[in-house]
Amino acid sequence: MLALAIFVSGRGSNLRAVLDSPKLKDLIKVKAVVGDKLYCPAFDIAKNFSIPIYSVGKKEGFISFDDLTILFKELKIDVIVLAGFLKLIPENFIKTFRNKIINIHPALLPSFGGAGMYGMNVHRAVFESSAQVSGASVHFVDETYDTGKIIAQRCVDISDVKSPEEIAEKVLRIEHQLLPDVIEKIALGKVFVEEFRVRVET
Ligand code: GRF
Repeated sequence: MLALAIFVSGRGSNLRAVLDSPKLKDLIKVKAVVGDKLYCPAFDIAKNFSIPIYSVGKKEGFISFDDLTILFKELKIDVIVLAGFLKLIPENFIKTFRNKIINIHPALLPSFGGAGMYGMNVHRAVFESSAQVSGASVHFVDETYDTGKIIAQRCVDISDVKSPEEIAEKVLRIEHQLLPDVIEKIALGKVFVEEFRVRVET
């Protein structure tokens, strides 16, 4: 079983897609859900699945990234999934879990990524760019926003959309398929990090 920790900041529809995925049922165990606030709607989903919840940060009532590192070692966490997590992850944490942290980004990287490119900002930028396709990317997390090696991407036709919100809806549907697919590949040992690329066996 692949032991996962899933980081969230908002509604948690990607978290739900992973937890509800029939093909992941016997392959993964989500051992922790981590947010950057004391509450977000995604925590309700975690509660329904009886998954321990943590709020990471520096203020009172929050666990630090250093203590989270210790906890994750105790829990033997194999992979950390950023599913709509909005805070930058500290460098030390990334170094400790090199090639074990993945992120889902709601556009086709390396375009439309980087600081400030989250949520509707991404879809607005895509809309205003006149691009006819968008999509979702799952990538390893390195020290800067959205630059880690790409593991998998899926495209969606947006030639008929009339607003950034329509792009967001179309891309979210793709995200809910792509993230469980990538986690399945990792759980099956089919993801290999090479010098320039990530190879995923079919
Ligand atoms: C998703 O579009 C994700 O790619 C982005 O933030 C959104 C989070 O949605 N980074 P949810 O919380 O999983 O519903």
